[in-house]
Amino acid sequence: MTTQLIDAPAGLAELCSTEDLEAGWGEAAWLQGRQIAVYRTEADGFYASSHHCPSTGAKVMARGILGDATIEGRRVATIACPLHKEIYRLDTGDCLGAQGAALNVFGVQELGGRLWIEVPR
Ligand code: FES
Repeated sequence: MTTQLIDAPAGLAELCSTEDLEAGWGEAAWLQGRQIAVYRTEADGFYASSHHCPSTGAKVMARGILGDATIEGRRVATIACPLHKEIYRLDTGDCLGAQGAALNVFGVQELGGRLWIEVPR
């Protein structure tokens, strides 16, 4: 077994191995005192957001339904809240509903098979 040493990128926190995440699902995680949701799409895209739905504050987003939508001619990954099915873009957090508040999303980097998450503020 070889170990790859990686310096912590500035402003990012190591979360888990990419292999810890099943394609097409989200998982809840505890990162520096905050509950976050981390997602792996069927196309192996990695995203992270607050675990709280902006609609009600319910801690449910990791159990949401991953999907995608075509926006301005481009496919973007989405997450639907499991409670009332409000849909959010995973790249920007924007709500696709008419007047919904945005989901707080965090940058994700994959380095050496590990996921690094932008430290939530
Ligand atoms: S709790 Fe998320 S849309 Fe209602």
